[in-house]
Amino acid sequence: MATAQVEEKYNFEVVRWFTVAAIIYLVVGTLVGVYIASELAWPVLNFDLAELTFGRLRPLHTNAVIFAFGGCALMATAFYSVQRTCGVPLWSNGLAWFTFWGWNLIIVSAVITLPLGITQGKEYAELEWPIDLAIAVVWLAYCINFFMTLMKRKTSHIYVSNWFFLGMMVMITYLHVVNSLAIPVGLFKSYSVFSGVQDAMIQWWWGHNAVGFYLTAGFLGIMYYFIPKQANRPVFSYRLSVIHFWALMFGYVWLGAHHLQYTALPDWTGSLGAAVSLAMIIPSWGGAINGMMTLSGAWDKLRTDYVLRFLIMSLAFYAMSVFEGPVMSVKTVNALSHYTDWTIGHVHSGALGWVAMVAAGALYHMVERLWNTRMYSASLVNMHFWMATIGTVIYITAMWVSGIMQGLMWRDYDAFGTLTYTFAESVAAMHPYYAMRAIGGLIYWAGGAVMLYNVVMTIRTASSRPAVTAAAANA
Ligand code: HEM
Ligand code: HEM
Repeated sequence: MATAQVEEKYNFEVVRWFTVAAIIYLVVGTLVGVYIASELAWPVLNFDLAELTFGRLRPLHTNAVIFAFGGCALMATAFYSVQRTCGVPLWSNGLAWFTFWGWNLIIVSAVITLPLGITQGKEYAELEWPIDLAIAVVWLAYCINFFMTLMKRKTSHIYVSNWFFLGMMVMITYLHVVNSLAIPVGLFKSYSVFSGVQDAMIQWWWGHNAVGFYLTAGFLGIMYYFIPKQANRPVFSYRLSVIHFWALMFGYVWLGAHHLQYTALPDWTGSLGAAVSLAMIIPSWGGAINGMMTLSGAWDKLRTDYVLRFLIMSLAFYAMSVFEGPVMSVKTVNALSHYTDWTIGHVHSGALGWVAMVAAGALYHMVERLWNTRMYSASLVNMHFWMATIGTVIYITAMWVSGIMQGLMWRDYDAFGTLTYTFAESVAAMHPYYAMRAIGGLIYWAGGAVMLYNVVMTIRTASSRPAVTAAAANA
């Protein structure tokens, strides 16, 4: 890719490709999200075509946003920040390119197999066994490269963002391998080695930790590097960040059972999951406050620095979803929230507000330094910020209302003990909220499209516009 580059001491070309890929996947993944949201509001959009139905496209959406967008964002940011914090280029540039092409090949196989209905039916682990094997190999290539780069660092200590990336890498390798253990019976069909209650437990041990380590620890790695860098201030408390790290690593692995309250699992497992979930509020809020307080004494920067706005707003949503999640894990609350859109609202306050916003802030930060120029348009960055914020708020408010309404309608009964509402009546009542969610999603998607346009224009015009100073580019 063309770049107005000062002499380059790091392997940044691969980071540039991951950066652009992440932004493209954000736009594509959220477009599929808007489409499936519209299908729920206007089912005619299913067009009676199996490949286009909600059931087939939903996993395509989750895989596109989590693994295509989230994966490329994590790979770009980890490879970028590990080089800068360690003062050395990547251990192997070749392995980094292998990771880039391998990961993209996996994404292409997901795009082909999921709409065809080829799936293991395990949430966030739908892809069939040959693709699972490929994921393990490419993921390990990513981890080994990161780890070996840390090993040859010039600095004496390992900066905290790298700890978070490392924690994610170790745990996701372990979780992916165990949850994917299956016996193949054909090229596109396999059966899990676990069955019944054990299968459910292993699946949600993976499921929640995909959230806890991939969507949380990994993105906290991003937060701990990019907020201090963008604000040009040291992290508020290094000690707090270390406590945050160890509490998260120890706590998250116990949470999976809160997805299986009131099931055939022994009751105590759900209680344990809920108790540890509640305890997680403390370190999670400690981390959020740590990130926000990094701006202490420099809050005025938020007035002019739009990239910083993304990073700080993401922490507000992080704090919100790590309060909401523990509350939802309590059995009495879960009895109302489970199976309803409240869960979907919680997911997207974390996904849209936290994951995608912190990533957007980091991607903007990197684009300016990787192409050594200021963004093509600062006001478009600001516009994206507002569209993302407003889109998220509309989405999650609609889901809170519809979720709580669903829960209350389903449990309401009359004096004779008969259910007051049929299920179909509850579905009809959701229509306005589903339409509202689709509109919120559309606004969010359009914000991502604005980002893609702004980044493409920044890259295309990089050499004709003022460079970031060498000092800033290497900061
Ligand atoms: C324009 C933005 C988006 C829209 C309109 C959207 C829409 C949707 C819809 C309609 C569903 C299915 C809900 C259901 O089954 O009732 C869904 C599920 C999901 N989405 Fe999104 N989405 C968007 C962005 C994202 C992003 C950026 C992420 C992650 C970073 C994400 C992660 C997920 C996950 C994990 C689920 C599954 C939730 C569950 O099973 O509880 N979404 N999304
Ligand atoms: C301490 C932090 C958190 C706790 C204790 C927590 C707890 C929960 C609970 C209790 C549920 C509902 C389970 C059910 O009824 O089935 C849930 C669902 C979910 N949460 Fe969280 N949450 C936390 C943070 C987050 C964050 C930061 C994100 C996003 C980045 C997130 C993403 C999700 C997803 C994707 C689901 C839906 C899983 C599914 O059913 O497919 N959570 N969480």
